[in-house]
Formats: sequence, structure tokens, C-alpha cells
Amino acid sequence: MDARDSSPHTSLCRLSTTEAYHRQDLSSLGWELTVCNSLYPAGTPARSVLVRDASYGELLYDHLRRFIPLDRITSVLEIGGGYGYLMKDFLARNGRLRPLMLDISPSLLEKQKETLAGRDVFWLLADALEMDPALLGRHELVILNENLGDFPTVVDIDHRILEDGSELADPVAGRIRHFFGAYDLERPLASFNLNLGAMEMTEKLCASGVPFVFIGEHSCEATVPPELKPFITVSSDGNPRRIALKGHDEYTLRLSYLQRIAERHGYRTLRGPFADYVVPNITEGLKAVLATRGLYSDSEEVVCHFVGDLYEYEYLIMTKRV
Ligand SMILES: C[S@@+](CC[C@H](N)C(=O)[O-])C[C@H]1O[C@@H](n2cnc3c(N)ncnc32)[C@H](O)[C@@H]1O
Repeated sequence: MDARDSSPHTSLCRLSTTEAYHRQDLSSLGWELTVCNSLYPAGTPARSVLVRDASYGELLYDHLRRFIPLDRITSVLEIGGGYGYLMKDFLARNGRLRPLMLDISPSLLEKQKETLAGRDVFWLLADALEMDPALLGRHELVILNENLGDFPTVVDIDHRILEDGSELADPVAGRIRHFFGAYDLERPLASFNLNLGAMEMTEKLCASGVPFVFIGEHSCEATVPPELKPFITVSSDGNPRRIALKGHDEYTLRLSYLQRIAERHGYRTLRGPFADYVVPNITEGLKAVLATRGLYSDSEEVVCHFVGDLYEYEYLIMTKRV
């Protein structure tokens, strides 16, 4: 289409969703090894390269308590808790927590019930995007670990739909425009992908006034410290990248957009790589494994992938200003 074409934009983008997969087809996360699951149970190859041999939930809890008064919190909502390992660790640390576990997948909610058996936990089978804002707002802390990339993403957006005055035939285009207009987001200059579901979830969380939010996900804006650049390559052009998985696609996250939404709603934010709290011990031996890209054994390959993820995944902590 010509940039000067004034006809209504009809087929401007495509919405990629994972809802049907999560509701009907998903029976195991075996195909997608999350950072959280990589550190479970004790003795995994991934744990052997950490400064502190601990599970993901333990490491995250200790990181969060530096910024959030976790000891005083009771009501926590975990969205998309997978196998429930993170919350198992949180409960072991803090018996005051009364979690609500919300998941779109019946099968994973059942797994969480097994992992958290005997604990005082509430359960909700639902799509987080459809959650009642009043229920969201009842929680002091909301955790979304490694799942916002599953939320709906608009792909191959013609950047010209952001132009003021162009006629919109596509309802999704109006939702896209809302975010660029309301939050003054940096505008891509070419065709792009947008984490619309993650942005709508963040906006919903902010509007509900939850005091503390933790988000962690694969980023499309990651950076690697200079000393590790010879060993770790990350893709970070700022455009959410498709990751094809069993039965569905997920997309890396443009966290700077979520950060802007949070800040405009009066939240302080803190952002960084998972490596801030899942700290790898960069020895000469590990550098040698990273340099060969884990070519020589399955466990070395796992380690390479895992260490790369610690820099490709970013977190965002949101704290409501009082
Ligand atoms: C990749 S898994 C991550 C699991 C776990 N948090 C971890 O880090 O291992 C994504 C999780 O998000 C859930 N999920 C995906 N989309 C969702 C939605 N719209 N609402 C609620 N849960 C969702 C999935 O069912 C699954 O439990």
C-alpha cells in the first residue's frame, strides 16, 4: 500500500492468541522449559552454575523483599503459575501469604493443586484479561512470571495506522492507537508487532490500584554486560519476536512500553535482567562452555541456553506511589 493511499486500511494486522491452546490442548510445560522450572528440583545442571544454589522462587523472594515489604503482605495473586513451584517457595518463606492462583489452563491449575496440596490457597480458572478489576484490586501483590508473552500479540502491524486521521476499518487498530496516544509511546517507523494483551493487562492492573506488581518475561530489549558479549548473544531490536512452541506461538515482550504505562499511572518502576537475582557464577570453566555454545554435551547445551536466558529475560517491579 502506498503511504499516501487514503483508502480505509482493511487488513492491517493479525492477532496471535494462545487462548484455545491453553484452555484445551496444553497438558504439560515440558516443551517450554521456563527459567523457574530449570531450577527445579535441586541438582539440575542450571543450578550448578549459580552463585547461590537455590530455586527460582527462593531467589526471587529474596530479591523482591529488598523493594517490597513482603513480610507484611497477605493477599497475593499469581497469574499463570505453571506448575506452582514459585508459590511453593514463597509459602515456605512466608506462612502469612494467602495466595489466589489464577490460570487459564485447567490442566496446569490441577498441577498447581498437586504442588500446593495442603496449603491455604484459592483457585480460579479464568483468563486474566477478563478478570474483574474489583477482585484484582483486592490484592497487595500480583505476580506474572514468564507468561505475558502468551497474551495476545498483534503481528505485522502497518505502522501507518498510527497516523492521525487515517480511517480505521479494523477494531484492533483502535486499541493499538489508544496506547500510542494515551502513553506517548515511541512509534515504530516500519511494520511491527505489539504485545497488546500484555499492555492491556498492565493497564488493568494499574487501574485497579494494586500496590505491587512483579512481571518477568523474555524481552526484545535485553542487553548483555560488555564482559559477556563475546559469549552471549541476545536479539534485542525492540520488536517482539515470535517464538514458535508446541501448539502455539509466544512473543518476546517490549517491557519499556509496560514500564511507561505503569509510570503514567503513578507507579515507580525497577527493571533489569533475571541475572540480577538468578546470578550466574562466571568462571573460566563456564566461559569455555559458553564459547563452544554447549556443543560437547546435553548438559552443557542446557547450561548455555539457561545462562543466555538470564540476560534475555527481564523483570519489572511496579510500586504504587502513595
Ligand atoms: C510459560 S507458562 C509459565 C509458568 C510459570 N509462571 C513459570 O514461570 O514456570 C505460562 C502460564 O501462563 C498461563 N496463561 C497463559 N495465558 C493466560 C491468561 N490469559 N490468563 C491466565 N493464565 C494464562 C498458562 O496456562 C501457564 O500457566
